[in-house]
Amino acid sequence: MLDARDIRVSLAGTPVLQGVHFRARPGQVTTIVGPNGSGKTTLLRAMTQEASYSGEVTLDGEDISRLPGWQLAARRAVLPQASRIAFPFTVFEIVRLGLTASAEAAQESRVSEALDRVGLAGFEGRFYQELSGGEQQRVQLARVLTQVWEPIGAEGARWLFLDEPVSSLDIGHQLEVMSLLAAYAQAGGGVIAVMHDLNLTAMYADDIAILADGRVLRQGPPSAVLTDSLLSEAYGCAVRVNAAPAGDVPFILPHMASIS
Ligand SMILES: Nc1ncnc2c1ncn2[C@@H]1O[C@H](COP(=O)(O)OP(=O)(O)O)[C@@H](O)[C@H]1O
Ligand SMILES: [Mg+2]
Repeated sequence: MLDARDIRVSLAGTPVLQGVHFRARPGQVTTIVGPNGSGKTTLLRAMTQEASYSGEVTLDGEDISRLPGWQLAARRAVLPQASRIAFPFTVFEIVRLGLTASAEAAQESRVSEALDRVGLAGFEGRFYQELSGGEQQRVQLARVLTQVWEPIGAEGARWLFLDEPVSSLDIGHQLEVMSLLAAYAQAGGGVIAVMHDLNLTAMYADDIAILADGRVLRQGPPSAVLTDSLLSEAYGCAVRVNAAPAGDVPFILPHMASIS
C-alpha cells in the first residue's frame, strides 16, 4: 500500500500542493486526474522523491524518504511526463537502462520482450531521437517495465508511477498500454497513473483521485468520482457523465448546451 499524507509542495514560492492525501493499493490501477496545472505531476514527483515536500509518503508502512535509492529502484519505476534525450542513444540502449536499475537478474533478451509488449518489436537499433512522440513514449514505458518486470518481488508488490503514459498514443496503442497496465495490477503490482483522458480512465481505473488547485477533491471508485458535479467543479466547465450504450462503463462529455 502506498500512502501519502498531508503532502505540501511549494514551487518558486507558490504553494502547489496544499495538504494532499492520496493512497493506492497493489492489485489496482489508481489514477490521478484533474485540470492542467492542478498539481498531478507535482504529486507524482513528490511520491517518487523527485520534488521536496512536507508530509509523509509510506510504502507498506516504510517512509520512502528513508529508503536507499537502490531499494526504491527495485520497488518502483517512474515514467516522467516528458523524456528528452540529448544524445543519439538507440532504443536498445534506452530500454536497457531499466535493466541496469532492476533488482532482478535478467538477460538482455528482456529488452526485446519489453519492446514487444509495447508494440515496438524490432525497434532495438533505431535512434530514439528519430522516433515519433508516441513511439518515444512507448520506448520509455518499455524501459520502466524492464525495471520492475515481475509485479511482485521479494520485498512485496512493485509499482509503476506513470505521468500521462498514453497521452501521445493513438486509440489502438492507448488500449494496448492500458490493458498492459491492468494486467500488471491484476498480477499483484501497483499502478499509479496520471491520466488526461477521462473516458480511458473510466474504462480502466479501479480508483480515481481528482485534483483541483493542489487539493484532492475526492478519491474513490469511478462511480464515486466520475460525477457531473465533481467533474464540473474540478474542470470549471459543465460536464455530463453518461452511461455507455453497451456495458456499464461511464463516458464523459462536456455539456454542449452550456457553451455560449
Ligand atoms: N518548477 C516549477 N516552478 C514553478 N512553478 C511550477 C514548477 N513546476 C510546476 N509549477 C506550477 O505548479 C502547478 C502544478 O504543476 P503540475 O504539477 O505540473 O500540474 P499538472 O501536472 O496537474 O498539469 C502549475 O501551476 C505549474 O505552473
Ligand atoms: Mg502534468
